[in-house]
Amino acid sequence: MEAEKLFLLFSLLMLQFSSCTSHDSLKMNQTIKEGDLLISEGNIFALGFFSPGSSSNRYLGIWYHKIPEQTVVWVANRNDPIIGSLGFLFIDQYGNLVLYGNDDQKLPVWSTNVSVEENDTCEAQLMDSGNLILVSRKTVWQSFDYPTNILLPGMKLGLDRKLGIDRFLTSWRSAEDPGIGDFSVRINPNGSPQFFVYNGTKPIIRSRPWPWRNQMGLYKCTFVNDPDEKYCVCTVLDDSYLLRSILDHSGHVKALTRRESDGQWKEYWKSPQFQWDYYGHCGAYSTCELANLNEFGCACLPGFEPKYPLEWSARDGSGGCVRKRLHTSSVCQHGEGFVKVENVILPESSAAVWVDMSKSLADCEVQCKRNCSCSAYAIIAIPGKNYGCLTWYKELVDVKYDRSDSHDLYVRVDAYELADTKRKSNDSREKTMLAVLAPSIALLWFLIGLFAYLWLKKRAKKGNELQVNSTSTELEYFKLSTITAATNDFAPANKLGQGGFGSVYKGLLPNGMEVAIKRLSRSSGQGAEEFKNEVMVIAMLQHRNLVKLLGYCTQDGEQMLIYEYLPNKSLDSFLFDESRRLLLDWRKRFDIIVGIARGILYLHQDSRLRIIHRDLKCSNILLDADMNPKISDFGMAKIFEGNRTEDRTTRVVGTYGYMSPEYVVFGNFSAKSDVFSFGVMLLEIVSGRKNNRFYQQNPPLTLIGYVWELWREEKALEIVDPSLTELYDPREALKCVQIGLLCVQEDATDRPSMLAVVFMLSNETEIPSPKQPAFLFRKSDNNPDIALDVEDGQCSLNEVTITEIACR
Ligand SMILES: *[C@@H]1O[C@H](CO)[C@@H](O)[C@H](O)[C@H]1NC(C)=O
Ligand SMILES: *[C@@H]1O[C@H](CO)[C@@H](O)[C@H](O)[C@H]1NC(C)=O
Ligand SMILES: *[C@@H]1O[C@H](CO)[C@@H](O)[C@H](O)[C@H]1NC(C)=O
Ligand SMILES: *[C@@H]1O[C@H](CO)[C@@H](O)[C@H](O)[C@H]1NC(C)=O
Ligand SMILES: *[C@@H]1O[C@H](CO)[C@@H](O)[C@H](O)[C@H]1NC(C)=O
Repeated sequence: MEAEKLFLLFSLLMLQFSSCTSHDSLKMNQTIKEGDLLISEGNIFALGFFSPGSSSNRYLGIWYHKIPEQTVVWVANRNDPIIGSLGFLFIDQYGNLVLYGNDDQKLPVWSTNVSVEENDTCEAQLMDSGNLILVSRKTVWQSFDYPTNILLPGMKLGLDRKLGIDRFLTSWRSAEDPGIGDFSVRINPNGSPQFFVYNGTKPIIRSRPWPWRNQMGLYKCTFVNDPDEKYCVCTVLDDSYLLRSILDHSGHVKALTRRESDGQWKEYWKSPQFQWDYYGHCGAYSTCELANLNEFGCACLPGFEPKYPLEWSARDGSGGCVRKRLHTSSVCQHGEGFVKVENVILPESSAAVWVDMSKSLADCEVQCKRNCSCSAYAIIAIPGKNYGCLTWYKELVDVKYDRSDSHDLYVRVDAYELADTKRKSNDSREKTMLAVLAPSIALLWFLIGLFAYLWLKKRAKKGNELQVNSTSTELEYFKLSTITAATNDFAPANKLGQGGFGSVYKGLLPNGMEVAIKRLSRSSGQGAEEFKNEVMVIAMLQHRNLVKLLGYCTQDGEQMLIYEYLPNKSLDSFLFDESRRLLLDWRKRFDIIVGIARGILYLHQDSRLRIIHRDLKCSNILLDADMNPKISDFGMAKIFEGNRTEDRTTRVVGTYGYMSPEYVVFGNFSAKSDVFSFGVMLLEIVSGRKNNRFYQQNPPLTLIGYVWELWREEKALEIVDPSLTELYDPREALKCVQIGLLCVQEDATDRPSMLAVVFMLSNETEIPSPKQPAFLFRKSDNNPDIALDVEDGQCSLNEVTITEIACR
């Protein structure tokens, strides 16, 4: 027997891997050794021997054939590397794929374990999907059933009870060692199935439980939950993209995409990114708010209070919540009920009980109510099928707010809590009723509605991207006579300044309130459009870092906006003034930076709309009496609908020095162009110097260029405004410079999102190294700015620039 095997081995070694037959398959009398490759029919994947990174160990693996940097998607002998170059793979007489490290070893380093009918031939084939299959009369083995750390499109992740396999991912030990590491991604099939990322046996991240709405985007993932099979499988919707999901050796799950034209892998999605992505971040019986980075984010479910109030108030939510002590005795007596918690990812569901309501016609609430240990229920629709009732009998863990693909959770509370909730909701209902009934407000609503409708109609005709269905505002309509009186008939003494679309006046209303009035110039037809835009946009926004619009006036051809009056005027009037800048100490500057970042974050993603400001600059940041920053001037803002994140315009408007390269050159704008402008502001605030005013002659560097030079020479702190003397926190200042440089990077995709910016500013976290920024050098002065801004009665040559650039 042994002799027979050895003989077979030697005879096999004598045979060359035949290269004239098909490249994608391995037949029973062939071997693959060092230098040989199996290449899938469409040239997509290759199988052969490789060494990861600088390691000299040899492994048999599968990688993308056409991608220059080796991207391995599967490894056979993960834990048993081959030393030297004598490894070879063949199909043995029992039909198994067998890998030997060298010919005098008795045991293979890796093999499949299948049984085929005696005398049947077997053949291995590498498919264009990246799957290595072993076929006899049918497929008897496939690498897709034994994934390593990569999930490819078409690969199932999860259980097949009939075949008795559980397909899960396990991380590599390190970037250079594909051995099985600590992390794994696998399904927990109990209750309502869900996926977990484990560190050893400890869950660290959890997916939402089944059912998922099919996730659409670049790819589509389907979650199958049958009695025999429970798995998730993803497919790419656009063929021009390659997709791989990886569980890396640090426990991160990432989806990476690549287009031939991109020439590199791009991160499409990643988890965990933030603290709250971790499983059970806020402990039991709590909710975790995903959108709001600056807040603590943890809150107790209705009827619960923090278990450890001290830790809780110190922003440590891991202890979770317990039922309010006062009420515990009455939880399961008469009168109790359920309070709805809206828009959440449902709690950990492995112990939850699932009932198909369309079969049993069960009433979910009744079901939960009659069992005292039932703590919550949810009603779930399976797309295209039936309704189900999910009930929980254990601790509620890992409830997170999420607006997409979320559910309502009904949490059991006692009679007190129920009464309290009812009272609160009645209060707010009464308020709403009152508001609807009050005739003057109703009239205002009508006017605004009409206004919005006409405007939308006009926009829709132009095929523009804007679509707003409802506005909720408390805008006041001012009569022209009121405004004339308030400004003393627009007396020059009351003029605060002048912008691209008109002048700004200070006004005193009859009730003693000071306001700022923006009077749009009658001549500019553009102004009317901007005016409507601004009313619509601002009316829908409410944030402490945005200037507040109080009302508007349209009468006798006048168009005016009435804002809250901010006595301290704009940030640039402090920053670039020799004496006033002394009022901005480091703490104030840092708070202003964070405030501006929060305001932009709100515009980009926290408000109900997605808004790109397009003209962020220091003169558009107003300061209130406490020096809190407020973003103003939404005349050029763009509202994005749904999932659109980027647009292009043929009319480039904005201010040189603050505009990103892709916007100036191609008219492309996105949230990332606002990030660029923010980066410029940040550097200006730290340095007290203007980006487009900063002169260094040889070479003629911009402020960005100068900061970049200092950064590379590790002298970045030299840029800090000398008027701060030594009175600043060097670590914080350095962090600001680094974030500023990240924001002004040349490639928009390299720039962080505002969410990431706010996170980096407010947390101790690792910050990436910036790549070379855009606009290092100052252009010669053959590109004069258009002078339009007047501040403090003085003309300054700068700021508002309108340019027309035709694209395409
Ligand atoms: C071995 O391979 C050759 C082609 O290279 C084929 O013609 C022959 O039938 C194969 N023999 C067996 C036993 O599979
Ligand atoms: C191979 O499979 C058989 C059953 O099909 C099983 O009993 C045996 O333990 C397996 N061997 C290995 C090494 O996995
Ligand atoms: C397999 O082949 C051997 C030798 O050719 C033969 O003796 C045996 O009967 C075959 N077995 C089956 C099940 O066909
Ligand atoms: C994984 O667990 C180990 C040991 O418990 C721990 O040291 C490590 O920090 C954990 N890593 C992560 C990412 O959770
Ligand atoms: C309540 O539900 C739990 C979990 O399903 C079960 O073990 C228990 O027997 C039920 N109690 C009653 C009174 O139905």
